[in-house]
Amino acid sequence: MLNVPSQSFPGPSSQQRVSSGGRSKVPLKQGRSLMDWIRLTKSGKDLTGLKGRLIEVTEEELKKHNKKDDCWICIRGFVYNVSPYMEYHPGGEEELMSAAGSDGTDLFDQVHRWVNYESMLKECLVGRMAVKPAFPKDYHEEKRLLNGMLPKSQVTDPLAKEGPSSPSYDWFQTDALVTIVIYTKQKDINLDSVIADHRDDSFRAETVIKDYSYLIHIALSHEIQEDFSVRVVENVGKIEIVLKKKENTSWKCLGHPLENHNSLIPKKDTGLYYRKCQLISKEDVTHDTKLFCLMLPPSTHLQVPTGLHVYFKLTITGTEIVKPYTPVSDSLFSEFKEPVLPNNKYIYFLIKIYPAGLFTPELDHLQIGDYVSVSNPEGNFKISQFRELEDLFLLAAGTGFTPMVKVLSYALTNIPSLRKVKLMFFNKTEDDIIWRSQLEKLAFKDKRFDLEFVLSAPTSEWNDKRGNISPALLSEFLERSLDT
Ligand SMILES: Cc1cc2nc3c(=O)[nH]c(=O)nc-3n(C[C@H](O)[C@H](O)[C@H](O)COP(=O)(O)OP(=O)(O)OC[C@H]3O[C@@H](n4cnc5c(N)ncnc54)[C@H](O)[C@@H]3O)c2cc1C
Ligand code: HEM
Repeated sequence: MLNVPSQSFPGPSSQQRVSSGGRSKVPLKQGRSLMDWIRLTKSGKDLTGLKGRLIEVTEEELKKHNKKDDCWICIRGFVYNVSPYMEYHPGGEEELMSAAGSDGTDLFDQVHRWVNYESMLKECLVGRMAVKPAFPKDYHEEKRLLNGMLPKSQVTDPLAKEGPSSPSYDWFQTDALVTIVIYTKQKDINLDSVIADHRDDSFRAETVIKDYSYLIHIALSHEIQEDFSVRVVENVGKIEIVLKKKENTSWKCLGHPLENHNSLIPKKDTGLYYRKCQLISKEDVTHDTKLFCLMLPPSTHLQVPTGLHVYFKLTITGTEIVKPYTPVSDSLFSEFKEPVLPNNKYIYFLIKIYPAGLFTPELDHLQIGDYVSVSNPEGNFKISQFRELEDLFLLAAGTGFTPMVKVLSYALTNIPSLRKVKLMFFNKTEDDIIWRSQLEKLAFKDKRFDLEFVLSAPTSEWNDKRGNISPALLSEFLERSLDT
């Protein structure tokens, strides 16, 4: 972990900040942690001032509640009294006040659309907006059967005219199989681009096309077997999802459309979709960091692209809490060997357990076989920008190392032009260094990879670099690397 002064938490370079857009957490007063907030919401106190009554809120009414001690905010058509939450908001009172008395949906989504406000603020719910803001079309309007014709896809955002050309889908069947074919009309589609889930009788496939999501969402007309396969024909951007019928009967139609079926939506406007994953193993890596292995359900196809993260969701004392984590491989050498566990059903995470934290102790208490909800991948990083790279410098601190795991493996195996990869890895003490011996082995094995550990609180025996990140340290690191 980095040596972070307590008055500024998390530290300016902590991985707990999502760096873009100038976001910053503020130090909260004693007794104003998330756990304290959860306690307050469970205390039975009237947090809306309406004694549990829900009301219809007009725009004029909403506008009146724009002061710190009387602050209402509308998010996705629902109005919350956020005054009691002011002192608990990790982004600070000023940030929350920027949406006071108005529709804060866009602001909220720009900063942290993954935050589970519905659950956190359920005791603050004032009611609905009297006139609902524009919303995705209610799927009940469209109860027609999907009979195999190519439906014209809905583009729910006018801006999408500038986005990718509209995808479409079709389906066909044999005695035993039903194949859904998605024509993305894009060339850079691969297996990471498709996230598919089958739950009860509903089938959902989200295809990420640039910054948009194309959704197939259907209540299937017949039962299918648990597992299915996904194939991608990359050069034409065609995706085939092959479902196995439970009974060999002929289907007259694929099913009924569900919410947002056959629509192309800007990715930022899609909700986070979760599925329950089972904890398969948990291994100590350092004194406070563990390698968690989760198994996806058999009825899910999901591969997290390099550099992206997912959200975990757990219910902690009745409130759903969401936190981001970045998948890693099971070791730094797994790209070079046969996988121990087959077919991408397993996701690994290196997670530091904070004894005084809210989420990680709960995660650590899960037993093998228990479940945690895992979202679709999120993030803006695109590994394709590394394609022609010659020199790659990676800076990591503590668990901020997690995105580097897959980046390193990718760089060393997939970039032919690569000359040098250098990792500068900041930690407090030697005991905090994650996968130290694996990193050293990799540096020994692959001459293109160089490694530098920097410790902020080393023992007197430490002969290597010490201190915190600084311009001097960085320029020395860069200069020496470019010389070699
Ligand atoms: C994009 C992204 C990816 C991430 N990937 C990973 C990953 O792969 N692995 C990983 O381990 N983590 C990762 N994280 C961090 C992770 O999401 C959590 O922040 C982390 O697990 C801490 O969760 P917690 O709820 O247990 O701790 P928290 O409750 O957040 O507490 C953490 C520590 O800070 C202290 N603290 C909390 N609030 C304050 C305050 N106001 N003032 C002073 N001290 C305070 C607590 O006492 C505790 O010691 C990632 C974060 C991001 C943004
Ligand atoms: C609509 C106006 C809002 C704005 C402009 C805003 C802004 C911010 C900012 C700037 C941060 C700091 C992010 C960081 O650096 O990581 C933050 C964090 C946070 N906000 Fe808000 N916020 C808003 C509303 C809300 C609401 C209504 C909730 C309700 C639950 C909320 C919950 C949180 C939480 C839980 C975090 C911590 C996220 C993390 O762990 O990274 N915010 N917010």
